Amino acid sequence: MSKKIAVIVGSLRKGSFSRQIANNLVGLFPSDYEPEFVEIGNLPLYNEDIDTPENVPAEYTEFRNKLKDVSGVLFVTPEYNRSVPGALKNAIDVGSRPYGANMWDGKPAAIVSVSPGAISGFGSNHHLRQSLVFLNMPTLQQPEAYIGNVTNILDENGKVSDKTIGFLQSIIDAYVDLLNRY
Ligand code: FNR
Repeated sequence: MSKKIAVIVGSLRKGSFSRQIANNLVGLFPSDYEPEFVEIGNLPLYNEDIDTPENVPAEYTEFRNKLKDVSGVLFVTPEYNRSVPGALKNAIDVGSRPYGANMWDGKPAAIVSVSPGAISGFGSNHHLRQSLVFLNMPTLQQPEAYIGNVTNILDENGKVSDKTIGFLQSIIDAYVDLLNRY
């Protein structure tokens, strides 16, 4: 049976460079893996008052059910103000609750940070890593995946060069090794 992997992109904008990189990454999984984009832009801001059995938003339930089904999570995200975009942090929070039903628990993760700048989303990558420690997600350590100067590596069709594909493949190969250990 194929293993489903949730692919979560931290940017909501249509032309997102992070999503373009994610589109390149999903084609690099072995055939027995099924990467699937899980969208986060429709999730209401997390609020414990509405997260009750009577009031829970349908979007929270749908998102949590999608996470329940997957063997791992690949995060591809930009950096906002040296941290994780609010939409992604919100999705992390929604998936982690209600208390005792952390949907992220035990699922191996990989983080790819993306930026048009030279610092490559380092702050976002590591702030996200901090949350994943608390959520108990074994997270790919090496190779680290910081994609900087992203506008230089994407062509007009959103594809990267063969050289960059080699690097992206090394990330996916290491992530698959991690997934196979769980
Ligand atoms: C940014 N950007 C940005 N870039 C960066 O490298 N470090 C940062 O701290 C920030 N901060 C930041 C805050 C906010 C609110 C925005 C909107 C943008 C620039 C960002 O990297 C750029 O807009 C990317 O194109 C966003 O990623 P996507 O949407 O292309 O995936």
